[in-house]
Amino acid sequence: MRHALALAICLAASTSTVSAAPAVITIGNDALPATVTAAHHGVGLIGDAPGASVVEVDDADLPAISEEMHHTFHRCGGMIESPSLEEALHPIQLRSTPVDYTLDRAPAVMAVLRQVDATTIAQTIRELSAMPNRYYKSAAGAEASNWLAERWRSFATRPGVTVQLVDHGFPQKGVVLTIPGTTRADEVIVIGGHLDSIAMGGLSANAPGADDDASGIATLTEIARALLASDYRPERTIKLVAYEAEEVGLLGSQALVRDFKRANTNVVGALQLDMTNFHGSTKDIWLMKDFTSAAQNAFLVKLIETYTGATWGVDACGYACSDHASWTRAGVPASMPFESRMNDRNKHIHSAKDTLAQSNGEATHALAFARLGVAYAIELGKGELGNEKAEHDFSSLWQLLALGLLGAAGLAARRVI
Ligand code: BES
Ligand code: ZN
Repeated sequence: MRHALALAICLAASTSTVSAAPAVITIGNDALPATVTAAHHGVGLIGDAPGASVVEVDDADLPAISEEMHHTFHRCGGMIESPSLEEALHPIQLRSTPVDYTLDRAPAVMAVLRQVDATTIAQTIRELSAMPNRYYKSAAGAEASNWLAERWRSFATRPGVTVQLVDHGFPQKGVVLTIPGTTRADEVIVIGGHLDSIAMGGLSANAPGADDDASGIATLTEIARALLASDYRPERTIKLVAYEAEEVGLLGSQALVRDFKRANTNVVGALQLDMTNFHGSTKDIWLMKDFTSAAQNAFLVKLIETYTGATWGVDACGYACSDHASWTRAGVPASMPFESRMNDRNKHIHSAKDTLAQSNGEATHALAFARLGVAYAIELGKGELGNEKAEHDFSSLWQLLALGLLGAAGLAARRVI
C-alpha cells in the first residue's frame, strides 16, 4: 500500500511532461543503473551535474522509472525535471558574493530570542494542517497562499516591509516577505520552506502536511513575527519565502531562481526549513551535508552552539530532497537543517496521518529551528533592532537633558557666587 501511495506521488512530478516529447531529468548517479533498467525506450546520457547525471528518457517511461526508484531506494530519486536541455546541462548561476561568517550580534539575537515561542508555532501548524490540503493545483492550495500572506502582513507594521504573492503560473502562489536592508540592500538572504502538501489523490486528497511542511512554514512565521516585533533592521535584505509546488519537483524554488536571474539579484545565502517538528532521533538538528554548502553549514554549527541549546549531527538526504537544492544548483550557499536522521524520518509524511498529533500536539522540536533561523537572519543580516536603537536614542536624550540641567545648575551656581 505504501508503495502504491509513494508511486502515485512520484507520478505527480511527471504530469507536466508533454507527451511524446523526450523528458530531460537530472538524477542522482546512484540511481542511474535503476533508471537504465526501468526505461524500456532507452536512456540517453547527456551530461553531468554535481553528483548527478542529466539524462533524456521517453516520458512514457517516467512511471516505470519512478516505480523502480521506490523499489530500490524508497524514494522518488529526487528527479528534477528541467524545462529544457540547456537548463539541465547548464543550471542558471546567480550572482552570489562571498560573505564573512562572523558572530558579533549577540545582544540583538538574544533580545529577539526572548520573543520566540513554541505555542505560537504549534497554533500555526494547527491552522495550516486543518486545511483539506495545500496541493499546488487545488483551490485549498491557492487559498493557503492568501491565508499566509495575510498572516505575514499582520507582522509588517513598518513601511518598507512588504509581503508579495509570486505567480509562477500555478493556482498556488509563492509568498515572499521582504525586510529591506539598510546599507547592503543588494545582498539578499533567503530563508524558506514549502507551503504545498501532497498525498495520494492529488487535488482532492486529505493532505494535512503538518510536518511536511506546515512545521517549516510555521517556524518561518514565528521567525518573521519575532524579528518584526523587535523592529529588526538588517543591513542586508532578508526574504522569507514560502515556496509553492515543491512536492512535484522543486518547481516554485526553481522558478524563483529564474526570477532572481532576470533581476540580477545577488543571493548570499539560503536556509531551507523543510520538516522541523518531529523528534525522530536523539540529537535535535541534523545538518544535511549533500546539496549544501560546507562553509555555511559550519556557520550554522556555530549558531546552533551559541544560541539554541540544541544538539546536532550530520546526515545526508542522498538526493535533491528539497528547495535548498535549487539554490545550490544556482551557486548560492545553501543549508538544510533537518528534524531527524534520514533513517529515523517521519514515516507519515505524504499521507492523511501527517498531523500535529504525531508530535504530541506540540512544537517544542520546531522551537530550536526557529531559534536557529532568528540567529541566522541576524548574524548574516547584521544591523540592529529598532527598539534597541529607540531605547538608545531615548537614553541619550535623557543624557542630553541631564547635561543641560547640570549646565543650567552650574550657571545658576556661578551667578550665586
Ligand atoms: N520534505 C520532503 C523531503 C524529505 C523527506 C527529506 C524525508 C528528508 C526526509 C520533500 O517535501 C519531498 O517529499 N521531496 C521529494 C523530492 C522532490 C524533488 C519532489 C522526495 O523526498 O521524494
Ligand atoms: Zn517537504
